Amino acid sequence: MQSSEPAKPLPYNDPAHWDKMVTAYEAQSQPFTTLFADAAVATLPIGPASKVLDVATGTGAAALAAARTGAAVTAIDFSAGMVARVRAHGLPNIEARQMDGQALDLPDAAFDASVSVFGVMLFPDWRAGLREMARVTRPGGSASIAVWKSADGAAVHLLLSQIIRRLYPDNVTPMPCTGLAELADPTRFAAAVIAAGFSEPAITEITHDFTLKVADPADIDKLFEFMPHWSGLDAGQSAAVARALRSEIEQRRTGDSFAIPSTALIATAQRT
Ligand SMILES: C[S@@+](CC[C@H](N)C(=O)[O-])C[C@H]1O[C@@H](n2cnc3c(N)ncnc32)[C@H](O)[C@@H]1O
Repeated sequence: MQSSEPAKPLPYNDPAHWDKMVTAYEAQSQPFTTLFADAAVATLPIGPASKVLDVATGTGAAALAAARTGAAVTAIDFSAGMVARVRAHGLPNIEARQMDGQALDLPDAAFDASVSVFGVMLFPDWRAGLREMARVTRPGGSASIAVWKSADGAAVHLLLSQIIRRLYPDNVTPMPCTGLAELADPTRFAAAVIAAGFSEPAITEITHDFTLKVADPADIDKLFEFMPHWSGLDAGQSAAVARALRSEIEQRRTGDSFAIPSTALIATAQRT
């Protein structure tokens, strides 16, 4: 029997999913994404006279980096929880607003620079997300966009997919974000940035370790339960993958830390 229920959005495309993640994201992910956000913002020629937009700001990694230059920052996210967290910093030069990055409620050419760190790549219509960044950036202004250099993403997603690919190369569930796969390729990433209305993107690669805390590796499979790669495994396969994960962690951990090197691509381009 076919259900007449509308399809449930993917977790990444559901603001309620991110609303629930605010505290965990700030504690576990933001220290890691900040390393990339600082690098993305450093490519922008901005200072106290600049107006800067951060698209899909999350807990504000890139917005905070831009605000440190003295720029006036608008930080947007579709999650009310994320927006509230950024507002709670109480910085006079950050305005946080709830909106969809695929249809910005902002005027044309309103910003000297726009940035999106691991945001636009998740949008169902990531092309619209890039076009919207171009629309609101003034001609001659700049943009910096960070994506993962793997269609499997980064950090724990990447670790899990590497182990599944090793054990079951024919049974890897692709990550359900088309932007993640498309933009992970530097040539296609550059072409997408140009198609959105920017010129001559410079693409740089940057790698940092995500530090997974593994005080009790016996629990490790709990971490992966909600990940697309994990849900594609049957019971026998998930048990084998969990064993391989534990063994890899035991061999490579330093104390209770396990490093997962993750590489991003950062495109910096000018608005035509
Ligand atoms: C991986 S987090 C990145 C957050 C932050 N930029 C960072 O680097 O830490 C992705 C963010 O995108 C936001 N997001 C996802 N889809 C969105 C959309 N269509 N419009 C606006 N924000 C969106 C989520 O709420 C989440 O805060």
